[in-house]
Amino acid sequence: MTLVDRPLVQYAIDEARAAGIKEFIFVTSRGKGALEDYFDHAPVLEQELRKKGKDDLLEILKDTNMESGAIAYIRQHRALGLGHAVWCARRLIANEPFAVILPDDVIAAETPCLKQMVEAYEEIGGNMVAAMEVAPEKTSSYGVLDIKEDMGSVVSVKGMVEKPKAVDAPSNLAVIGRYILGPSVLRNLQQLKSGAGGEIQLTDAIAQDIGSDVPVSGYRFKGERFDCGSKAGFLQATVSFALSRPELRDDLMSYITKVAQVDKAAE
Ligand code: G1P
Repeated sequence: MTLVDRPLVQYAIDEARAAGIKEFIFVTSRGKGALEDYFDHAPVLEQELRKKGKDDLLEILKDTNMESGAIAYIRQHRALGLGHAVWCARRLIANEPFAVILPDDVIAAETPCLKQMVEAYEEIGGNMVAAMEVAPEKTSSYGVLDIKEDMGSVVSVKGMVEKPKAVDAPSNLAVIGRYILGPSVLRNLQQLKSGAGGEIQLTDAIAQDIGSDVPVSGYRFKGERFDCGSKAGFLQATVSFALSRPELRDDLMSYITKVAQVDKAAE
């Protein structure tokens, strides 16, 4: 899916790079072959752009290039849940901390969200999830944190529930698709049974570490999150990201103003 002029996965990679990450694993499935081509070099296209003096496009193309051996693709053969998707990458991750980005959660932020988290993680370690307050009636779309101690940006966690109904939710502080996790989570996933929605949940594997010597925390990031997995969220992200681009801003703004006026007049 393209947000303004770049696929969502490119935003995810840019955010990971900004956080200092140099090796990437994509968990993919059938029909996602285009992803591998996208991050490959495109010598013919590059040559053509160079010949035509299109340096700006060449520059954009550079972001899609990966150092050889820095990117791997692993297939999730059956859609058994987010926890299962992460578990599919276990042999590539091996025994070290790793970050998980869900590219359909797009976060606009002055300091990219994962970089904010890495800075906090360097102090605390353990398992850390991005967190954001959501409307209480929306908890059933998220993993939700049971707060032990609220220190502002960082929240220590005594429980995590995947997609609870509003009445059962321990708070309205929801997990957003950025995680920094340790190898214990992969071990937990190894034995995990399916949870909410019949899926193997990453939330449950993280929650299993609560009470052990691995601290589990939520991180309230600074920034605006868009749920690009929903039509409305994707459209809002498109407008917001386009308005932040100087070359698009004026045209788009005058169009939005015109549409809003017509809409108001019709009321
Ligand atoms: C996943 C996670 C959930 C998290 C959400 C954030 O759910 O399972 O805990 O709150 O991402 O977007 P999904 O949206 O894939 O159903």
